[in-house]
Amino acid sequence: MRTIKTQVAIIGAGPSGLLLGQLLAKQGIENIIIERVSADYVLGRIRAGILEQGFVDLVREAGVNERMDKEGHVHDGFDIAYYGKRFRIDLKALTAGKTVMCYGQTEITSDLMDARRDSGLTTYYEASDVVLNDVTGDSPYVTFKHNGEDCRLDCNYIAGCDGFHGVSRKTIPADKRTEHERAYPFGWLGVLSDTPPVSNELIYCKTERGFALASMRSSSRSRYYLQVPLSDKVENWPDDIFWEELKLRLPPDAAARLVTGPSIEKSIAPLRSFVCEPMQWGKLFLVGDAAHIVPPTGAKGLNLAASDVSTLYKLLVKTYQQQDLDALQRYSEIALRRVWHGERFSWWMSNMLHDFDEQQVGGMDKATFERFMRSELDFFLNHEEGQKVIARQYVGMPYEQID
Ligand code: APR
Ligand code: PHB
Repeated sequence: MRTIKTQVAIIGAGPSGLLLGQLLAKQGIENIIIERVSADYVLGRIRAGILEQGFVDLVREAGVNERMDKEGHVHDGFDIAYYGKRFRIDLKALTAGKTVMCYGQTEITSDLMDARRDSGLTTYYEASDVVLNDVTGDSPYVTFKHNGEDCRLDCNYIAGCDGFHGVSRKTIPADKRTEHERAYPFGWLGVLSDTPPVSNELIYCKTERGFALASMRSSSRSRYYLQVPLSDKVENWPDDIFWEELKLRLPPDAAARLVTGPSIEKSIAPLRSFVCEPMQWGKLFLVGDAAHIVPPTGAKGLNLAASDVSTLYKLLVKTYQQQDLDALQRYSEIALRRVWHGERFSWWMSNMLHDFDEQQVGGMDKATFERFMRSELDFFLNHEEGQKVIARQYVGMPYEQID
């Protein structure tokens, strides 16, 4: 058995684990990351790409902002096309100057991996049999296999950044956690293509044929999504059929500008709202997708992960630099307040913009639900106060002050 030691053991090298590791290292707090798959596999996942100001600031604080600041695009607003009627949510005007940045999660992850390697920080990729031990005791440790060798990592704290399917959340005994869940009855079919986007801002479209989103990664790379039934398969969507359906769901001017081309990635993702409470157990702290999932409709997944990272990072710094051993007790309570804001907004946006192909939605028949949603979105989109509420949540609620 090989024994190693660090201050903070981080499980998972997704954006949460990598960003936390970089921030802690800058403050002189040692950390080691244990990741189940290879770095290339992590980078092969295509995820969202809208960053709130809080996220951008955190990446700058970690000192990994060079490429993001060069290649990322600031978006001052986005569009909602509602049964053909177009509304622009002018984020900048409605929030007194706030904006979001368009920069892919894959790019951020790659930048963080490069920075970690350049700083000489240890990451065990392709680790198997990861088990968290004695998390409620004084000397927690993580055991795992790496290159055929049994390893033991002794640490003070464990950050569970291992996503929805990881081991960290399940380490909390089932009777000590509450899980809240809403699985939606549809998925998103996503296509990435090296074609110029139809617009320089995002367009969220609610149509009789279902939801569609026109997004992008750069001025030459587009990302599009279509709402599809959960049972649907990627094989049912050859490129030409995808483009044809997208055209029917985009507003006419955008459809006319659509440039099609071969897809370079195509996948179907289910939509889920999920929160685990509490987000801590003994010396274990859950971060990002390990603790909560949102449907992608509000672009909040990565951003909620970042606010968890910010909270845990600040509390760990207090613990190590000010010997404030009680600070970490507040982690779950602080993180969950912001998480629930993001959960509510993503759930609301999903309700507003999708076609619910269920007999019963929220205890009423589909047609009645649809009328309520139509009236609600009408109200929000046609009043500046309503648009302000949408804009304020889209740019992200402020991070909690940690004194
Ligand atoms: N041991 C070690 N690592 C694990 C284990 C395990 N048992 N199980 C999973 N992992 C790794 C995964 O391989 C993955 O690389 O943990 C990482 C978790 O990364 P993400 O799923 O990306 O989660 P997170 O870092 O919290 O990122 C936030 O926001 O936009 C959303 O879902 C999107 O990934 C995004 C998330
Ligand atoms: C994306 O570009 O992948 C994206 C953007 C905004 C969303 C969801 C996904 O709300």
